[in-house]
Amino acid sequence: MTQDELKQAVAEAAADHVARHLPEGGMLGVGTGSTANLFIDALAPIKSRLGGAVASSEATRLRLERQGIPVLDLNAVDRLPIYVDGADEIDPGMNMIKGGGGALTREKIVAAVSDTFICIADASKLVPVLGRFPLPVEVIPMAVRQVSRALAALGGTPRVREGFVTDNGNLIIDVHGLAIADPVGLETAINQIVGVVTNGLFAIRGADILLLGTPEGVRIRVRE
Ligand code: 5RP
Repeated sequence: MTQDELKQAVAEAAADHVARHLPEGGMLGVGTGSTANLFIDALAPIKSRLGGAVASSEATRLRLERQGIPVLDLNAVDRLPIYVDGADEIDPGMNMIKGGGGALTREKIVAAVSDTFICIADASKLVPVLGRFPLPVEVIPMAVRQVSRALAALGGTPRVREGFVTDNGNLIIDVHGLAIADPVGLETAINQIVGVVTNGLFAIRGADILLLGTPEGVRIRVRE
């Protein structure tokens, strides 16, 4: 099976999970990226069951609206029963690196108000230790040099993402060469650097359920 076929399989499995577990008229949080896009498409047969969705990026908002799913501002919602999103890497402890698409801050905000975070990923995303994928850090533009120096002091090699501005008007620094033994500690340490908006480690609030696309079928892991 190709990577796209594995993504398609987990997208359909997630839509099936939503059909079975989201209360009728419930609100759904929706992530960003190619796997999340396939998930949005897979919602078509059940969209009338949804009260609406909260989007983690402008791209996701547009795709949901094209699908005919109403999109609400997060400030209009208290809690989301389910949030579905992809990941760049996930480890056996359900910690993730996210932000390859640059939507990490809104993704983290939506995840923070969600009861259940469902990560949808093809098998290549499951790794023993996070860090081979460069860790994205969203930064206020005037702080880029200062934050880069602080990230280098933590042991990584920071590179500003060329020609990219986030939905929030900020820049992304991708940190290469990290082997992340303590995801919660590093997430906390990077968030303390002045000028950082947030970083792409999702460890303090990791995934609750992983739907992993493998050639043998979709495997389900639940956070212990
Ligand atoms: C976007 C993300 C995505 O979830 C992550 O990059 C995975 O993307 P894809 O499903 O395209 O592999 O965090 O900010």
